[in-house]
Amino acid sequence: MIRVGLIGAGFVGRNHFNQYEKLRGRASVVALCDREADRRAGDWSKVGGNLADTQGTKRDLGAIKPYTNWQDLLADANVDLVDICVPTTAHCEISIAALKAGKHVLCEKPMALSVADCDLMLAAGRDAPGKFMIAQCIRFWPEYVFLKSVFDQKKYGLLKALSLRRQAEAPTYSLNSWVLKPELSGGAVLDLHVHDVDFAIHLLGKPQAVTAQGYPSPQGSLDHIHAFWHYGPGLVVSLEGCWDLPAGFGFNMGFTAVFEQAAITWDLATGKPLAVFRSGCAPETPAMPAGGDGYFGEIAYFVECIERGQTPKTSTPQESRDAVALALAEKKSALSNKRVNV
Ligand SMILES: NC(=O)c1ccc[n+]([C@@H]2O[C@H](COP(=O)([O-])OP(=O)(O)OC[C@H]3O[C@@H](n4cnc5c(N)ncnc54)[C@H](O)[C@@H]3O)[C@@H](O)[C@H]2O)c1
Repeated sequence: MIRVGLIGAGFVGRNHFNQYEKLRGRASVVALCDREADRRAGDWSKVGGNLADTQGTKRDLGAIKPYTNWQDLLADANVDLVDICVPTTAHCEISIAALKAGKHVLCEKPMALSVADCDLMLAAGRDAPGKFMIAQCIRFWPEYVFLKSVFDQKKYGLLKALSLRRQAEAPTYSLNSWVLKPELSGGAVLDLHVHDVDFAIHLLGKPQAVTAQGYPSPQGSLDHIHAFWHYGPGLVVSLEGCWDLPAGFGFNMGFTAVFEQAAITWDLATGKPLAVFRSGCAPETPAMPAGGDGYFGEIAYFVECIERGQTPKTSTPQESRDAVALALAEKKSALSNKRVNV
């Protein structure tokens, strides 16, 4: 049984808590740290989010040990795995301390706000006995898993064009709206768009160069960006990320992938299943890989790695560091109006 200490019981911390409950018998939350007394006590009625979470807002935490300070949770010998779900500015310090304390560490995305911080985290992970993974849920999301699988198998021939999109109204649900402060979240490029940046790395590896355009929010961060990733002739890759759409839009993530013999489209907000279009055939809606959504998938995978004593092969700290670097390269391109070599 892997004993989990969860740090941060907001939108994503509550979600992770629910995933561990589904892994009963293999992993169990034994300690929970949040600065806010109500959240620490399992009252999550004021916690919001952009994806539905229907598993209750007030929880009886029973024997789960509450902590006000994350340092005390790290000193708890009963904790094997530290799951970090606090605002991004704290990822680096807490991850490094947890790794030094000998814990396994799962840390939310983006890994950090700067490449320098990511590098410090990478170095700490290399020296530590514990396993270390960044929680990039999109790598485990069924529709994206399907896309990666048909791409790897060349089921529909070679990929010719890929458009990844993540579009949202302004996220107003984080505690004290920290996510809207670019100095704390990195703005939409690092907080939201990084999901697609990471998935593109997962699918295609790093490009030779990026070009991007965007426009700033009143707070001064790029909250709407369109980027092209340059891999050379024969492949067109574009990524769109924004959270400045009108209130009421909600949230959408999706993609269009054009292969030699088929096109695949999916958009969460339509409520329609992923569809495969082939000339002369009726559209197909293949069954998606089983196993729950990306939040469950990433946590189940990391727990399995710990159980087997294996270093995670996907969503590695190095890849997550590259995702931060590429998102920042896009930002540099958008601000300078120049192509940025990677
Ligand atoms: N994977 C995803 O889809 C996804 C979605 C949302 C957020 N995130 C990431 O998860 C992280 C948290 O975001 P969120 O939306 O859950 O934020 P949130 O504001 O909803 O929750 C953050 C929680 O952390 C607590 N906290 C802050 N500093 C703390 C500290 N030093 N010690 C203890 N508790 C502390 C707050 O009290 C709050 O309850 C961010 O890095 C964000 O980018 C990922």
